Order: sequence, then C-alpha cells, then structure tokens
Amino acid sequence: TWTTHNVVEEQVAAIRAQVGTKRAICGLSGGVDSAVAAALVARAIGDQLTCVYVDHGLMRKGETEQVEKDFVAATGVKLKVVDAEERFLTALAGVTDPEEKRKIIGREFIRVFEQAQLEIIAEAGATGEPVEFLVQGTLYPDVVESGGGSGTANIKSHHNVGGLPEDLEFKLIEPLRKLFKDEVRMVGQELGLPEEIVQRQPFPGPGLGIRIVGEVTKDRLDLLREADAIARAELTAAGLDREIWQCPVVLLADVRSVGVQGDGRTYGHPIVLRPVSSEDAMTADWSRLPYEVLEKISTRITNEVRDVNRVVVDVTSKPPGTIEWE
Ligand code: XMP
Repeated sequence: TWTTHNVVEEQVAAIRAQVGTKRAICGLSGGVDSAVAAALVARAIGDQLTCVYVDHGLMRKGETEQVEKDFVAATGVKLKVVDAEERFLTALAGVTDPEEKRKIIGREFIRVFEQAQLEIIAEAGATGEPVEFLVQGTLYPDVVESGGGSGTANIKSHHNVGGLPEDLEFKLIEPLRKLFKDEVRMVGQELGLPEEIVQRQPFPGPGLGIRIVGEVTKDRLDLLREADAIARAELTAAGLDREIWQCPVVLLADVRSVGVQGDGRTYGHPIVLRPVSSEDAMTADWSRLPYEVLEKISTRITNEVRDVNRVVVDVTSKPPGTIEWE
C-alpha cells in the first residue's frame, strides 16, 4: 500500500544501499521538490550529504534568505551557498531563445556543482570519501515533459532533466522521480519539514530567467523581482495562496506600449500575471482571481515599479498554453 511512511522507508533504504559510504551533494533551489529530496537523502545518509544553494541571481526577492534560514533550521543539513550571479548573467547575455536559456542555466548549474564538489572534497581532506552523487528533486511530470516518459515529445527541457550536459560527472539520485507534487508535499510533511516549505508554490529551477521574455539582464531582473514581490504579497494578503497553484509574474521585456502617468507620456513594458489552478501542473486552468485583488496588484505595480505601465492577465489554460511563458 502507498503511504508516505512507506515511501520514506523504501527510499531511505534504497539511498543508503546506493550511496554506501560515499558522499552526495544536492542543489537546493528554494522550492519544495529539492527541499524534500534533500531532507529525504539527509534522513538516509546524514552528513554525507552537503547541500549547495546556487544563488544564480534569478531568484525572487527574499528567496536566498529563506533557504539559508528556514531550511537549515528544519533539517540541520550542511549548506554551502555559492554566489554565482555574475557567472549566470554573463552566460545568459544576449540570449533570448527559451530553450537556449534553459540549456545554459542547466549547464551552469552543473558547472557550479562540479566546482562545489571540488571544494567539498578539499574541505573533507585526504581521508574523505569521494563526492559521487548528485541529488535532484525531479518529479514524475518533469520526466514526462522532458521526453523521458513513454515516448512523449520534448515540450520543454526542464533544467534538471533535458538540460543536463553530456559530460555529467555525477551519478544521479532522484528519489521523487515517481511522485506527483501533492505526494511530494505529503512526504515533506512526513519528514517534518515546516509548512512554509512544504506548502510553497512551485518555482522553476531556471527562476526568473524564463520569466523575462527577451534578454535577461540584472536591470530587468530587479524590475521583475519588484513586480513579483508585490503580486505575491497581495495574493497572500488576500488569503489566496492555497487556492492558486502558482502565479508566475512575467516581464515582456521586448514589448513596449504607450501609457500616460501624471501628465506625461510613458513608453514602458507590460507585466503579465499568470495565476493558475492545477492538480499536478500537467494541465492547468487560469484562476478567476477576484477583481479587487487584480486591481490592487495592477495599481501597485504600475505605481511602484519603474518602466512598467501596464499589467495584463493571462487567461489561457494548459493546454494550449504552458504555465511558464518560456
Ligand atoms: P510548464 O511551463 O511546463 O510548467 O507548464 C509546469 C510546472 O513546472 C514548472 N517548471 C519547472 N520546474 N525546472 C523546474 O524545476 C524547470 O526547468 C521548470 N520549467 C517549468 C513550472 O513552474 C510549473 O509549475
């Protein structure tokens, strides 16, 4: 019978058998999946695991601080934070194609892990066991949508499946590969992770890099971070966090439209709100948000975020749209 208790027991035993006395590293994205995967592996192999949080500069406001504080407090794992913003932004400079962005981000992630691996080995000293495994929070829908399932076409290269480079040097541990999101949350609960982590809405590994339609720059990221923080704050204030699956906030950086503010003409960018309801992200419907909430978000974003003079709502289901714009 399927119970979260059994899933945890089985995975813990399997991971112990697979890893032996070797070491593993796990990338934390700040999301539920990697957090639960890490907590599960930590349960199995304790401090043979080191978590690596790559701050790629594509995170939302406050995200890094949350990982550093909440996750470590809940699990006691060893955490290494790598500031890689400059590296990622350099690699992404001039790139506008969504698949290319995803592949670059996936590749840079692995490069940073490899670097972290070397550092962890060096820190472990001569007696340390090699770091041979990489833990990933890949879920069943990620596997299917990246073409790893039963003959499904490649829709998007999720950074943790299709985006891996060919010269990958790690063996993978993917304890959530057969699970859907709701099951992962239950496993997280079983492992004693706090609500704020377990009930977090999904956020993609490539982060805000795939929520800027156009080239990704520091300036645009800062702008999108502000808009996103406002949308999240207002949705939370309205008590809608549980009702919606997630609400990507997207900057159409290559689009401009004419507006008027005060008595001046503006020529700014639109922000797209993409609130969706879903069971497992394989399909989704657009959320019918209350008008008052939309109004509040729109007013605040256009007043508070420079260069944004328009807020639009995406009313497309999945299919035909995907949840993220890229
Ligand atoms: P799409 O856009 O394919 O998104 O409808 C489905 C769900 O997956 C999330 N997503 C990702 N998650 N790495 C992740 O960890 C990725 O590369 C990635 N791309 C999309 C998306 O936010 C939604 O929840």
